[in-house]
Amino acid sequence: MQFPKLSQLQSRFAVSFGATLLLILVYLSISRPSFAYASEIGSTTSVDHDQPFWPVILEDGSFNEEDNIPKEDVQAVVLEQDDTSDEERDEIQASTFEGCEERHHGDWGTDLNELRKRAPAGVSSLANNAPQNMNIELGETENWVFLKDEIEGPHGEQGIGLPSDASTTGNSDDNTPSRRELEKRQFGTPIWITINVCLQPTSNTSRGEPPPQLQLFYSDSTDIQKPGSTSEGTKGIRVEVEGGYGLVHLNATDDVYIGVSAPNTTDFTGSWNYEIAASNDVPYHFWSNSTDLLFVDGDNHAALLVTPDLTDSSNSTIYDEWMAMQAPYGMFAHDQKDQSFLGVSRSYCGLRKNANIAANIPGITNNNVGTMTNRGLGGAPKEQFYISALNASSDYWGFLAMTGNSTATGAGVIGGGGRVWSNMTFSTKASDNCALMYNLSFCSEVAYAVPSNPDKYSPLDGLADLAAVYDSYAAQMYQYFNYSLQQIPCNTTASAQYSLARNCDDCARAYKQWLCAVTIPRCEDWSNDAPYLARRNMAQSFPNGSTASWISNPDSGQQALLNSVQSNSSRNGEIIDDVIQPGPYKEVLPCIDLCFDLVQSCPAALGFGCPQGKYQNISYGVRDPDPGILSCSYLGAAYYLSDGTRESGLPGRMMWASMIITVALLFF
Ligand SMILES: *[C@@H]1O[C@H](CO)[C@@H](O)[C@H](O)[C@H]1NC(C)=O
Ligand SMILES: *[C@@H]1O[C@H](CO)[C@@H](O)[C@H](O)[C@H]1NC(C)=O
Ligand SMILES: *[C@@H]1O[C@H](CO)[C@@H](O)[C@H](O)[C@H]1NC(C)=O
Ligand SMILES: *[C@@H]1O[C@H](CO)[C@@H](O)[C@H](O)[C@H]1NC(C)=O
Ligand SMILES: *[C@@H]1O[C@H](CO)[C@@H](O)[C@H](O)[C@H]1NC(C)=O
Ligand SMILES: *[C@@H]1O[C@H](CO)[C@@H](O)[C@H](O)[C@H]1NC(C)=O
Ligand SMILES: *[C@@H]1O[C@H](CO)[C@@H](O)[C@H](O)[C@H]1NC(C)=O
Ligand SMILES: *[C@@H]1O[C@H](CO)[C@@H](O)[C@H](O)[C@H]1NC(C)=O
Ligand SMILES: *[C@@H]1O[C@H](CO)[C@@H](O)[C@H](O)[C@H]1NC(C)=O
Ligand SMILES: *[C@@H]1O[C@H](CO)[C@@H](O)[C@H](O)[C@H]1NC(C)=O
Ligand SMILES: *[C@@H]1O[C@H](CO)[C@@H](O)[C@H](O)[C@H]1NC(C)=O
Ligand SMILES: *[C@@H]1O[C@H](CO)[C@@H](O)[C@H](O)[C@H]1NC(C)=O
Repeated sequence: MQFPKLSQLQSRFAVSFGATLLLILVYLSISRPSFAYASEIGSTTSVDHDQPFWPVILEDGSFNEEDNIPKEDVQAVVLEQDDTSDEERDEIQASTFEGCEERHHGDWGTDLNELRKRAPAGVSSLANNAPQNMNIELGETENWVFLKDEIEGPHGEQGIGLPSDASTTGNSDDNTPSRRELEKRQFGTPIWITINVCLQPTSNTSRGEPPPQLQLFYSDSTDIQKPGSTSEGTKGIRVEVEGGYGLVHLNATDDVYIGVSAPNTTDFTGSWNYEIAASNDVPYHFWSNSTDLLFVDGDNHAALLVTPDLTDSSNSTIYDEWMAMQAPYGMFAHDQKDQSFLGVSRSYCGLRKNANIAANIPGITNNNVGTMTNRGLGGAPKEQFYISALNASSDYWGFLAMTGNSTATGAGVIGGGGRVWSNMTFSTKASDNCALMYNLSFCSEVAYAVPSNPDKYSPLDGLADLAAVYDSYAAQMYQYFNYSLQQIPCNTTASAQYSLARNCDDCARAYKQWLCAVTIPRCEDWSNDAPYLARRNMAQSFPNGSTASWISNPDSGQQALLNSVQSNSSRNGEIIDDVIQPGPYKEVLPCIDLCFDLVQSCPAALGFGCPQGKYQNISYGVRDPDPGILSCSYLGAAYYLSDGTRESGLPGRMMWASMIITVALLFF
């Protein structure tokens, strides 16, 4: 039905070009339901309603399906007709929408191939996965085009990706070339055009607020070849740019025109610098609205952060691949006092060029490290970041990031512009007598700030010595326990075991957890007033030699505290008070469930028990349901650890046994 109608049109074509066009448009609007679809593109983004949006003719392959010639073939036929007469060429061209459109917008008699490749004057063209970097001045608009040849050109080469189960990789059959080809003919080729702001103008004022965002516009109609904000108004469809990141995603059937406009403002000085890239694979630059970075703990100059589990696969091959990996992620951190940073916080390029702190970002050298670890409950692979050179008592934004696809970056790499995750926040401590410690060899699950003395254990190079003091003490205590455990008939037949549910391995694990948490206290600033913190070492002088006012001039409440063992000494006085001498600090008490777990997991013959009532409250803490509050210390702890991965709560069945020496030694 379609073809005869077109033949009629063709005869009119010679008579009146305008009439032809009108008829085609009428025809199309009646017979093409996909029109509605075309004008819906971008409906998820903010559409500029002031400007009429010219609907685009979608070259969906259904037309050619009638005579079983794939669209590409028709085009080839057209292009080969160079030596035919003009009339013949008219016939052939008029028989395709392709031809009609070219006639309408293009020059008569120009080689179609040439026409396709040429960008309009003043418009630069973008190649697939090839970023361009540009400066833009206040009030200017710059135009780009992603030409059809590139849109329908070859895809980038897919990398191996990060280790994962076959079932969770994107390589399911809906991404195969043949499926892509079919969808392309039906709906157009999905494309992504992204911008990353790298540098932004600075504020004239001292307020330091972020400059306005660049504006991103697009058009897939040849009628608007230079979308953007001009002094007359705006053209094309506007897409929101936030935090220096903008994304245009549409199914393209023809050239896509892009405009980048810099707002006019007199409050800021300088220009923007941005990177723009187009891709028919995935967004070249990527921003994710999840944070995926957890704060473990920090001291007054350093912080430890960790990703969530990177795989939940029980497959040991995948586990080994992750653990053997060169750490694939990086991170950035920036002081929250600098509000102007909001202007680039979703842009990899912007973070790289502006952030105070970077870790594991190629090309930026510093002492910050990103390493793989299996610390934490379940022992799944994660990546941890140890960042230093932070300011004391400061609030930071932290961003997980990936440079390129983690192994390659830049032009030709799918996703080569990098990835950035949404921000999380963390703070540094004020005082210098808490030191962040991790990577211990015996208490390998310990990763938090511990009481320290900066004069004895320099924050620069003394932390390994400090770790050794705590770790060897815990290892020695464990050895005593080991001797006791060897007296227990653990490895006998099931009927002779002390419990069917738990064996000696469970007991050894629970003891180690408990022992490390109890012998290595978690330290907080003396100035921190959180109600769950316990005061320690009140009567000692600070490491800098100054003595607190409550010693020389105590009021009655303080006098009581000074006389109390628990607030005037440390939990583990033998090494903390005598060897380390941290001065006054506050302690996050170990979680009571570590003690319950110990009592439950070990044979009654060992005689473990947990203190009750008042004694429990001064020795142990309880978990706060708010994941942002660490009201007690447990191994593998991190702020905002999701409930699924937190250690399960209290066991239902509780055993109360008498205390024996080992336990009693360590709590008050
Ligand atoms: C990153 O891209 C390069 C080049 O395309 C590719 O060889 C490599 O396998 C990719 N890396 C990953 C982790 O996919
Ligand atoms: C920006 O301001 C300049 C000078 O005032 C003016 O020439 C230009 O048209 C303005 N641009 C826009 C997009 O309003
Ligand atoms: C592109 O077309 C596919 C297939 O119809 C559709 O699923 C997808 O949502 C479209 N994408 C956009 C951005 O319109
Ligand atoms: C900001 O600085 C620029 C360049 O120095 C100047 O042209 C502009 O007038 C200044 N604006 C304000 C509000 O001071
Ligand atoms: C992230 O985006 C998804 C889908 O767009 C949305 O459902 C989710 O609520 C967003 N998450 C946050 C933290 O904004
Ligand atoms: C584990 O993963 C590897 C690589 O993905 C695969 O070859 C192997 O069959 C998997 N093993 C199991 C037990 O699923
Ligand atoms: C951090 O995230 C919050 C909420 O997601 C957002 O309001 C804020 O602007 C973000 N800050 C930065 C620097 O991106
Ligand atoms: C520390 O503070 C100073 C002064 O406020 C600031 O210039 C510097 O960038 C900060 N450093 C970090 C790592 O936040
Ligand atoms: C010594 O350290 C304490 C706690 O960090 C602090 O409050 C005090 O001001 C310091 N004294 C001197 C002289 O620096
Ligand atoms: C952890 O300690 C081991 C030696 O015990 C050392 O080889 C390794 O580099 C340390 N890792 C980090 C991240 O400090
Ligand atoms: C106890 O010590 C022995 C000998 O040192 C060692 O072989 C054994 O693994 C230890 N037991 C536990 C539970 O660590
Ligand atoms: C029990 O025996 C197994 C192997 O027979 C051994 O691996 C384990 O360490 C033993 N447990 C204890 C507590 O000795």
